[in-house]
Amino acid sequence: MTNNNKKGFVLWFTGFSAAGKTTIADKVHELLKHNGNRLERLDGDIVRKNLTQDLGFSKEDRDENIRRIGFVANLLSRNDIGVIASFISPYRAQREMLRENVTNFIEIFVDAPIEVCESRDPKGMYKKARAGELKNFTGVDDPYEPPENPDIHLLSSEHSPDDLAKVVLSFLRTNDYID
Ligand code: ADX
Repeated sequence: MTNNNKKGFVLWFTGFSAAGKTTIADKVHELLKHNGNRLERLDGDIVRKNLTQDLGFSKEDRDENIRRIGFVANLLSRNDIGVIASFISPYRAQREMLRENVTNFIEIFVDAPIEVCESRDPKGMYKKARAGELKNFTGVDDPYEPPENPDIHLLSSEHSPDDLAKVVLSFLRTNDYID
């Protein structure tokens, strides 16, 4: 099978729930697949139902969630697979751990104001968190530490997912990950 990726990489989308991580990451996946790249997609809601179903949302559990996913992402990346990962991953230190341990780690900050994410609320989770029915919800009663120096910074309340996906593809091209 042909592989247009020149090497493996990990596109790591971080940001609030409902910031647009999954939507943009899915779009990037679609565009890259169309170009014949070998890829794997890792997304919070799916991975948490399978690989990390034993974990909750305390700081310790989130750190363990990210550690396991980072381990898997590295196995794939070092074998020349392009990984597209979307996780809130709210803690800076844990993302720095990924940068140190994961082959060709690319941090992408999906940046939308919390008010915008909360007004979207596709799963009704912000509403539940505000009502006190859901504890430790990121942006409500749990912190999000924004990246200080992300490789790619996407303003997701100002541009369409299609346009932002193209920004990611041009980063990969410019940095010689794909043709
Ligand atoms: S992370 O913090 O460990 O990176 P992850 O991205 O895997 O989180 O999972 C986030 C998803 O879990 C959200 O999209 C949401 O559907 C769900 N979720 C359930 N409880 C919480 C919570 N307390 N905070 C954030 N997300 C939660």
